[in-house]
Amino acid sequence: MKGIILVGGFGTRLRPLTTNTPKPVIPIVNKPFLVYQIELLKMYGVNEIILATGHLSNTIKKILGTGESFGVKIIYSLENQPLGTGGAVKLASRHLDGQGAFILNGDVLTDINLDKLYNFHKEKKAKVTISLVPVADPTKFGLVETNENNQVRAFVEKPGQNEITTNMINAGAYYFENEIFDMIPPGVNYSLERGLYPMLLEKKIPFYAYNSNDYWLDIGTPKKYLEANKDVLEDKVNIPALLDMKKSGSVFIGDNAQISKKVRMLSMAAIGEKTIVQPGATITDHSVVGNHCIIEEGAQILGSIILDNSFIGKNSKIVNTIIGQNCKVMPYTFIEGGLLKVIGDGAYIPEYSII
Ligand code: GDD
Ligand code: MG
Repeated sequence: MKGIILVGGFGTRLRPLTTNTPKPVIPIVNKPFLVYQIELLKMYGVNEIILATGHLSNTIKKILGTGESFGVKIIYSLENQPLGTGGAVKLASRHLDGQGAFILNGDVLTDINLDKLYNFHKEKKAKVTISLVPVADPTKFGLVETNENNQVRAFVEKPGQNEITTNMINAGAYYFENEIFDMIPPGVNYSLERGLYPMLLEKKIPFYAYNSNDYWLDIGTPKKYLEANKDVLEDKVNIPALLDMKKSGSVFIGDNAQISKKVRMLSMAAIGEKTIVQPGATITDHSVVGNHCIIEEGAQILGSIILDNSFIGKNSKIVNTIIGQNCKVMPYTFIEGGLLKVIGDGAYIPEYSII
C-alpha cells in the first residue's frame, strides 16, 4: 500500500518556530512531527510513502532520509513552485504505479484508524473517501455536509459564519482510487478543497465521508503545538511505535541524557538525547527539553518547550514559553509566557532579564 503526505506549505502561523525548520519536521516530544505520520501509515501497512514537498525540501530530506530507519521507503516528489494541495497530489501520483493511495495533510497529529477508513471506502464503493472530525469553529477548515448514507453533499473550504450548517470538517486524511488522479490537471496550481471536491460533487462521482472518533489536532499555531506536545506526553496519541520511547515514571528520556540525581522535580516531561540537567533543576508541568540542551543548576522549566541545542542558565525560571533552537538564556532570567510566549531560534537573553 502507498501513501502521499502533503508537506509543501509554509507554516507561517507557527513562525518564528518555522523560520529555519519546516513545519513537518518541527519536533513533537523530540521526534520530528512527520515521524508520527510515517509511523501511523506504517502501522496500517503503508510502507511506501511519497512526500509532496516544495519549500525547504532538502531540510526534510536531511532529517528523514530514505525512510530506512523507520522501516519504510520514502520517495520525495519536489515542486519547483507550490502547486497547491491538488497539484501536489497530481505530481506525487506519478509514483503510485496505477494504485489507489492514502493521502494525509502533513500538519495534523492523529491516530486515525486507517483500516476502518479503508474498509468503509470499499464497502461504500467510493472513489474518494474523506475523514471528518467535529470542531467548535469550522471557519478555519473545510466544512463537509453529508447525507444519511455518509455521502458528501457539500464541501465548503473556509466557510463564512453564514455558511455554517454543521460542525463536521475535513480532517485531512483521504483515500483516493487511482482514476481520481486523472481528474486533476497537471503542472498547475490546483486545490483539492476548492477544485477537485466541488467537481466530484458536480459530476456525481461517489464521494463519501468517514466519521473519525480518533485523536486529531491541527498543529498550525504555537498554542496547538504546545497542546500536541502535552497530549503526546499524556499518551493520548495511540501510535504504538511512539509509546515505546524510553520512559522513567512520567518522563520520556532520550539516549545518553545526563540527569543529575539531585534534580528536584521531574514529572510529566521529556528530556532529549545528550541533554544535561544539573542538580536542583525542576522540569515539570508538561515541559519538553530537546536534544543537546544544558539546563543548569536550580533552573525551573514549567509548562514550556525548549528546542534543541539551547542553554538555560542557573536559577532561571521559564513558564509557559517556547524557546527556539540554539538559544542562550543566561542565569537568573525570568520568562513568564502568560498564555504563551515564543522566543525564536538563536536568541540571547542576558542575565537577570525579566520578560
Ligand atoms: N506539496 C504541497 N504543495 N503541499 C501543500 C501545498 C502545496 O502547494 N499547499 C499546502 N500544502 C500542504 C500543507 O503543508 C499542509 O500539510 C496541507 O497541505 C494542508 O494545507 P494547509 O495550508 O495547512 O491548509 P489548512 O490547514 O488551511 O486547511 C486544510 O486542512 C484542514 C484540516 O487541518 C484543508 O484541507 C481543510 O479542508 C482541512 O479542514
Ligand atoms: Mg493546516
